[in-house]
Amino acid sequence: MNIILLGPPGAGKGTQASRLVERRNMVQLSTGDMLRAEKNAGTPLGERIKAVMDAGELVPDEIVDTLIDKELAGLAPDRGVIFDGYPRTLVQAQSLDRLLAARGRTLDVVIELEVDEDALVDRISGRFSCAVCNTPYHDRYKMPVVPGVCDVCGATEFKRRADDNAEAVRTRMAEYRAKTAPILPHYEAQNIVRRVDGMAPMDEVSAAIEAILDQS
Ligand code: AP5
Repeated sequence: MNIILLGPPGAGKGTQASRLVERRNMVQLSTGDMLRAEKNAGTPLGERIKAVMDAGELVPDEIVDTLIDKELAGLAPDRGVIFDGYPRTLVQAQSLDRLLAARGRTLDVVIELEVDEDALVDRISGRFSCAVCNTPYHDRYKMPVVPGVCDVCGATEFKRRADDNAEAVRTRMAEYRAKTAPILPHYEAQNIVRRVDGMAPMDEVSAAIEAILDQS
């Protein structure tokens, strides 16, 4: 099964994708994670995209399309994929159609996480993650059980993203409205869009997604 998790910044795409990886042995392909890895490694590509990402703007289509193509090439054909944060423009959606077709894959469902944008700013501004294993946490909604210690790997270092400040978040939201939301009709025409209330508690969101996947 190949699926897209779609929603504005902070909608919970990464949170839900990680859960699906655990429960369904699927592979999460997050272009945000791939781009941050390049940025943090200081590669030539990372240097090129740093300013764009930190400002909350979108990285050029051909860069992310190439990253996704490379990841798909390395996957066993029977491993299901969760696309997290990709595609983000109509050009990327059309590229993904071609990349999947070239590997004999089909897109089964696009899950749109419906959210309240004002609440997302609150979510994003409280977000941090384990510096070692990337487990996500939140100042108000999901603190580590033992303060200062990662629940999963026991590390004591945590990090916050450079683009999780008010100005960049506003730009990210505007980019979503202008360039990403308009890809929905592309998938509605294929009758594969399903909607989930992304404002519900995390476990309820997960249950709703599981129910959709069971029916697809
Ligand atoms: P990316 O990394 O994809 O970030 P994003 O879309 O802005 O999404 P986030 O990771 O911020 O949010 P999320 O929906 O995953 O929510 P999360 O689960 O973390 O992209 C970053 C940048 O990279 C872009 O701005 C762009 O520059 C570039 N980029 C990436 N892909 C690109 C592409 N395809 N094309 C061009 N450029 C690209 O949850 C957020 C917080 O809320 C967490 O703290 C979590 O614990 C909490 N939370 C989650 N669900 C719930 C819930 N139900 N209730 C309460 N709290 C919740």
